[in-house]
Amino acid sequence: MPDVRILPDKDRLIAFTADYITSVVEATLSTKPVFTIALSGGSTPRPLYECLATAEYAQRITWSKVHVFFGDERCVPPEHPDSSYGMIQDKLLSSVPIPAENIHRLRGEIVPAQAAIEYEQELRRFFGASDTLFDVNLLGMGDDGHTASLFPGTAAIHEREKWVMAHHVEKVKMWRLTLTPPALNAALQVIFLVSGAGKATMLKRVLQGDYQPENYPSQIIKPVHREALWLVDADAGRLL
Ligand code: 6PG
Repeated sequence: MPDVRILPDKDRLIAFTADYITSVVEATLSTKPVFTIALSGGSTPRPLYECLATAEYAQRITWSKVHVFFGDERCVPPEHPDSSYGMIQDKLLSSVPIPAENIHRLRGEIVPAQAAIEYEQELRRFFGASDTLFDVNLLGMGDDGHTASLFPGTAAIHEREKWVMAHHVEKVKMWRLTLTPPALNAALQVIFLVSGAGKATMLKRVLQGDYQPENYPSQIIKPVHREALWLVDADAGRLL
């Protein structure tokens, strides 16, 4: 059964998630030289990134030992308002002492297919032959059940070999770069962050409905190492 934690409201969801992730960073760095995390775009995690940038949390993290990756990206330049990297750089990375070389972004500004090849090479160079890619992989879930840029009806949902794919997503009318299930599921810990009443129906379908990853791509996330942790607020979890 998935591990679901329901927090009373969004503020307490964000505070819980910030503390949880920070504690995982501290615990990881007590036994390993680096901590790796894949972050997601979208609106839900923005206040989380802002929270992690505050002194209360930022001072607990040894940023020189943290490597940040991205679960997906929109194929736009970093300065474009749709850029997930741009948002995360603005809300978090620009406020903490993380070395530039520790930020491993998907290059949304170049030809999508080339950006996917490049990122896969970077991931394989960084992680080598390990069967674990990230210490933490933070994911969101769309109200259509997508996660990262694995949208309903797209071939990327069923990719089993490649770690990174570029595809045009008709639903959002844009090219996207996305990690694939093999890469997303290779994290030591996958954390879904879901908030708002608009997600309640889909969250129930994804967690308690029939297994139909073609329609509900978040269901394709079955982490290799441990059950995904779903951190949701009461509005999103009201039907569970
Ligand atoms: C993105 C994310 C995407 C997001 C969901 C939920 O780039 O948009 O990777 O998967 O997590 O769309 O987005 P919200 O948090 O805005 O609802």
